[in-house]
Amino acid sequence: MSGDEDTRADTEAPSEQERSAKNEPGHEPAGKKPEGKKPKKGKAPRRGARREALSNLGGPVDSRGDRAFAFALASAMEAQAEEADVLTHGFHTYPARMHPALARVVLREFDLGPGSEVLDPFCGGGTVAVEAMVAGWRCLGSDLDPLALRLSRVKVERRREPQRARFTEVLEAVAAASERRVRGRVEVRAALSPEERSWYDVHVLKELAGLLEEIRAVRDKRDRQALEMVFSAIVVKFSRQRSETADRDAPRRLRKGLVTEFFLRKGRELVERWAALSEALPERSHEPRFVQSDARRLPTTLSGEYRCDLVLTSPPYGGTYDYARHHARRHAWLGINAKHLREGEIGARRDLSQPHSKSGSARRGERRSGRVEAGKDAQARWDQQVLDTLRTLHELLSPDAVAVLLMGDAQLGRVAVPADRQLEALAPVAELEFLAAASQPRPEWWTGGHGQERREHLVALRRPA
Ligand SMILES: C[S@@+](CC[C@H](N)C(=O)[O-])C[C@H]1O[C@@H](n2cnc3c(N)ncnc32)[C@H](O)[C@@H]1O
Repeated sequence: MSGDEDTRADTEAPSEQERSAKNEPGHEPAGKKPEGKKPKKGKAPRRGARREALSNLGGPVDSRGDRAFAFALASAMEAQAEEADVLTHGFHTYPARMHPALARVVLREFDLGPGSEVLDPFCGGGTVAVEAMVAGWRCLGSDLDPLALRLSRVKVERRREPQRARFTEVLEAVAAASERRVRGRVEVRAALSPEERSWYDVHVLKELAGLLEEIRAVRDKRDRQALEMVFSAIVVKFSRQRSETADRDAPRRLRKGLVTEFFLRKGRELVERWAALSEALPERSHEPRFVQSDARRLPTTLSGEYRCDLVLTSPPYGGTYDYARHHARRHAWLGINAKHLREGEIGARRDLSQPHSKSGSARRGERRSGRVEAGKDAQARWDQQVLDTLRTLHELLSPDAVAVLLMGDAQLGRVAVPADRQLEALAPVAELEFLAAASQPRPEWWTGGHGQERREHLVALRRPA
């Protein structure tokens, strides 16, 4: 993942910086380039020149399994040392966003020719979709969170210069109107619950509400939707939510007008990022499609015949994040009904860090913080969620096609569960063949207080022919 958590302490103005990759000395290559091994027909990775990592995110990458696949996966893991904030990728933070270079290398190594179809059933902020478009793949992205789909759609827009110029005019008009509201102290009521309102200082709440009213008055639907994502990109920084992935109260000192200034800056940034994307796209690129679905019900959602040539995805890491909670501020402002996400989110920390049985012995304070022994049923629930996901992938992959999954070790209370071993054990149950894995330590991750090291893995599974 590319580290989209804002870990900054409270400041006068919200920081635009994402946490940068941690460079560790002592990098070792993940294994020698396989000599004289023939790529398997059609589905095996290309053995292109291996990229030299400039630095390393979390220490050495080690790999195992089929040599050609292991090599390709290790190359992709190592590419994470490259710049993550390119094209439209860094426009909007997203917890556990996939590193774009990782996606790029996987798409290159598993290239099957023009127009092949890649599926990302946990598409989040659309990293795979953007990279697929640039690399000439067709792409279907799916997620349970409507916010993810709205964001992804904006990030893959191919806006040429005249459209970008027109959008800039609209953006500036909205910002000017918002500024006039602030100066004129225009009354406006935020359509939020009292609980949600309590996340903001009164003057910030008014400025955000006024800004959103101006956005909603924009006539062009695409512009309006893009402006809503600009709003979404800044709103958490103006709340008392301490970071993207924490929900504790953090008082901010924010002067009037700052919301609008940030909105304008973010909007201009989006325009520049669209320009970079437009430059990078081949003349004939395929616009990705997106659909809202629980990944485990995707075959039903797609009703029938859909098959893909590659799955590239990063499902939630067990017991690590709470997407419904992390995005709650955004859902509330944008009127997004997150019921399906709250009910169907897999891997959610709120679910897997606590025992389900009524006899759960955790004390109240521990329960609230999630620092509890999760119990056997958490492991069983997580296994079931992963297994259901793998069964779905089996249904959606063409025969002989490969699924590449980026997953971090789960943290179930105090117990760390190695994701590569879990996938390897469950794959045959879902009639998938384990091919290879590449793994890298993540020393900066939370370990439930027991210091068990957690790692991130890129795992390749194949649906047999
Ligand atoms: C690790 S993030 C994906 C990040 C993405 N690769 C990116 O680069 O932005 C996992 C995603 O899974 C989604 N999700 C959680 N449970 C899901 C489910 N049952 N079905 C589909 N999506 C789900 C979350 O909404 C979140 O967007």
